[in-house]
Amino acid sequence: MSESLKLFELTKTIFAGGVNSPVRALVKPYPLFIERAEGAYLYTIDGYRLVDYVMGYGPLILGHRHPRVYDAVIEQLGRGWLYGAPARAAFELGKIICRNFGVDKIRFVNSGTEAVMTAVRLARGYTNRAIVVKFDGCYHGASDPVLVKAGSSALEYGLASSKGIPDEVTKYTYVLPYNDIDTINKFMIKLGNNTACIIVEPVVANAGLILPNKDFLKELRYLSDKFGSLLIFDEVVTGYRISLNGASGYYKIRPDIITLGKIIGGGFPIGAIAGGKKIMEMLTPTGKVFNAGTFNAHPISMAAGLATIKELQMDRHYEIANRAANEITSYISEKLGEMNIKFTVNRIGSMFQLFFGVDRVTNANEARKADKEKYVRLHELLIKNGVYIPPSNMETCFTSSMHDDEAISASIDAIKKTLSILGNEIG
Ligand SMILES: Cc1ncc(COP(=O)(O)O)c(C=O)c1O
Repeated sequence: MSESLKLFELTKTIFAGGVNSPVRALVKPYPLFIERAEGAYLYTIDGYRLVDYVMGYGPLILGHRHPRVYDAVIEQLGRGWLYGAPARAAFELGKIICRNFGVDKIRFVNSGTEAVMTAVRLARGYTNRAIVVKFDGCYHGASDPVLVKAGSSALEYGLASSKGIPDEVTKYTYVLPYNDIDTINKFMIKLGNNTACIIVEPVVANAGLILPNKDFLKELRYLSDKFGSLLIFDEVVTGYRISLNGASGYYKIRPDIITLGKIIGGGFPIGAIAGGKKIMEMLTPTGKVFNAGTFNAHPISMAAGLATIKELQMDRHYEIANRAANEITSYISEKLGEMNIKFTVNRIGSMFQLFFGVDRVTNANEARKADKEKYVRLHELLIKNGVYIPPSNMETCFTSSMHDDEAISASIDAIKKTLSILGNEIG
């Protein structure tokens, strides 16, 4: 029996499903336990090396254990790691992020979940309204008001997507189809005057990968202005991933509030809420919208985030990471085309996902129609051949600037072998 399987049997005795975050349990045939990670690679406790396309679910755009981030963390550790008082690094990191995203103020918290929870509270406090509009397929972390799936129709309030969330909470959240301008217009005409915020992943990274249609984000900006609702871009994944100015910079749309996480902590726990002065000053202590946290602006996360963003600003990291994603997706597309297998690949920059059996994926419904079993089999075979992709096609694959020629060529060999087995299995 492999060491990973042995350890999984043990972890099941103390953790629900053997894991501390559910997606980790989906890895087939069982979760792989990691000994260490470096550059583009994970090394399992069973002695295997895997080219990593999960990259911690997004934060590690510089790859694992980047030397600059390592040095910054060690340097900070030497000066202590929790002060319960302000320190300079938070100011430096905050200033860079405010400049990059064209916002006045920022608040650091500890996770994307906390960032969104606070952003929604802020929008409700600012507008004195209750309704939250989100889009099917967008994930905004694990707080109650956004852990909601579509109701019986787009204009009916949503249903909890978890047990333990009362109807009283979900009845203020509406879930509409992504990329559907007509429906959001109809909704805002009916309930826009009571809507506190429209929250969206500008590029959806939680229903596979889905890109916004040309005018969708623009329409959200227009409707928010027209009805006095706040527009929240959840850039927990896309912030510093799509560009130094996130998706808002890339698509040239200015939301009222931006939530950030992942990359800005360089692989350490982080979240942030950023926006204009008038909105942000509603947060405690200047305002009456409560937020606080023992670990807010944690010195280690600040040091790692600052080192990461300085590095991103200086070097060709985006170019290298984007090129890797382009080479991998081009190869997959070429091969599947030759094999006459129906598929769609969505990609932007260093993010991509493959869907089997569908011609296009522009919203969550189309993503759900893809052949999941085939993807899971691909994931399982790729692991056997030395490549680690997320275990579900409702997640996104990420590259890093450590995905160099060697990593790409090892991946292409693995994909070639894997697709040939998959082709034989399909017959
Ligand atoms: C878009 C988005 N928002 C929020 C979150 C929640 O972030 P965290 O897992 O740090 O709580 C995630 C997590 O994947 C996310 O993808």
